[in-house]
Amino acid sequence: MAAKLIVSSFFFFFILFFVTSNGALNVITYGAKPDGKTDSTEAFLRAWTVACGSAKGATIYVPKGRYLMKEVEFQGPCKSRILVHINGTIIAPTDYRALGNSGYWILFKKVDNLTVVGGNLDAKGAGFWDCRKYGKDCPVGARSITFNWANNVIVSGLTSINSQATHLVVNSCNNVIVRNVKLYAPDESPNTDGIHVQSSTGVTITGSTLQTGDDCISIGPGTRNLFMKSIKCGPGHGVSIGSLGRELNEDGVENVTLTNAVFTGSDNGVRIKSWARNSTGFVRNILFQDLIMYKVKNPIIIDQNYCPDNQGCPNQTSGVKISQVTYRNIQGTSATPEAMTFDCSPSNLCTEIRLHDIKLKYMNETATSSCNNIHGTTSGVTDPESCF
Ligand SMILES: *[C@@H]1O[C@H](CO)[C@@H](O)[C@H](O)[C@H]1NC(C)=O
Ligand SMILES: *[C@@H]1O[C@H](CO)[C@@H](O)[C@H](O)[C@H]1NC(C)=O
Ligand SMILES: *[C@@H]1O[C@H](CO)[C@@H](O)[C@H](O)[C@H]1NC(C)=O
Ligand SMILES: *[C@@H]1O[C@H](CO)[C@@H](O)[C@H](O)[C@H]1NC(C)=O
Ligand SMILES: *[C@@H]1O[C@H](CO)[C@@H](O)[C@H](O)[C@H]1NC(C)=O
Ligand SMILES: *[C@@H]1O[C@H](CO)[C@@H](O)[C@H](O)[C@H]1NC(C)=O
Repeated sequence: MAAKLIVSSFFFFFILFFVTSNGALNVITYGAKPDGKTDSTEAFLRAWTVACGSAKGATIYVPKGRYLMKEVEFQGPCKSRILVHINGTIIAPTDYRALGNSGYWILFKKVDNLTVVGGNLDAKGAGFWDCRKYGKDCPVGARSITFNWANNVIVSGLTSINSQATHLVVNSCNNVIVRNVKLYAPDESPNTDGIHVQSSTGVTITGSTLQTGDDCISIGPGTRNLFMKSIKCGPGHGVSIGSLGRELNEDGVENVTLTNAVFTGSDNGVRIKSWARNSTGFVRNILFQDLIMYKVKNPIIIDQNYCPDNQGCPNQTSGVKISQVTYRNIQGTSATPEAMTFDCSPSNLCTEIRLHDIKLKYMNETATSSCNNIHGTTSGVTDPESCF
């Protein structure tokens, strides 16, 4: 009996050892301290250097605890795939200036076949928001986690709170899956976008909750084949394609799908926004489908007259060409009387815009829609009545 117990506990510990160590690079072994006070940046970098140089796939393990981390760059190319398994919380220094002026907190650069599982990030952005509100000479503001020039990336189960600027950025990447992430910042925190995608192809975002002070998801120039499903947005500024067309020579956005999303109390639902400036940009082949709006100020909006302070838009007309945008099965309530706004460019009409089964009320009343420079078709129910 005793022998059996010893054998089974031996096996238990063996398995525990195997599961927790299993070749994984535990950041504590590399000097990280889970005390929330000791700077663990160099320790994480040491673990990264080993993982990145490993000829077979490597796992970096971050046990539970709080790890203080400054601005950090995990750079590739690496020799093989890397899994970063975070079971702890990574916190930024309380003094927002410590993250510097690079615009990044945690940056993965030129890394292929990277998976980041779990983890909590706390960027402690409040001091920075205050600086922007009252002070001068604030740094540019750090994005919490950024992937630049990375391919085949999975980010799963990450929670990020109080970013200084955008929580999660995908820039110049191919094949990225973001799933089950939770991104939180207060409604009034400035420019705390949830996810920003730009110059990237094949990005999928699913099962995520985004409560932020700016766009839940913002989609920049050069985004292709973006698929978003099961998204909860709000508070925040909604899902926004744009702002586009700031530059004269700019890439477009095409083949974007958003489906099964719920917007709660957000400023916008689905928005397409461009500067009122000349540009080579475009937006085409977009599907917004199966969306629910609760008290959203602008549930459906195209705004091509964006020009803050009326600076730098001499001709007040956007060169961005918007076409083939479908809105299908969008229901719920608008917090303003105008539930659909289509303010397209006088020099580039919006074309092939389709509305199918739209049911948006203002309180209990019929809502309205407004149109400028748009051509489109409607089918099924369209309430409010279309202005095409
Ligand atoms: C990444 O995965 C692709 C496809 O499986 C493979 O061709 C490539 O060699 C991998 N690169 C790294 C660095 O793991
Ligand atoms: C992560 O931490 C939680 C407790 O904080 C624990 O229950 C869980 O087993 C840990 N997961 C792994 C994979 O270590
Ligand atoms: C459009 O994007 C989807 C992902 O949402 C992708 O599966 C499809 O192949 C893309 N279509 C084209 C024509 O690239
Ligand atoms: C806008 O830019 C395009 C492309 O550069 C150019 O062909 C066109 O003349 C410009 N239009 C105006 C009004 O400047
Ligand atoms: C503004 O329009 C005028 C003609 O209407 C054109 O000559 C000029 O190039 C335009 N400027 C820009 C910046 O598009
Ligand atoms: C909307 O109508 C319902 C039922 O007719 C009523 O109970 C509710 O008070 C109304 N709400 C508003 C804001 O008028």
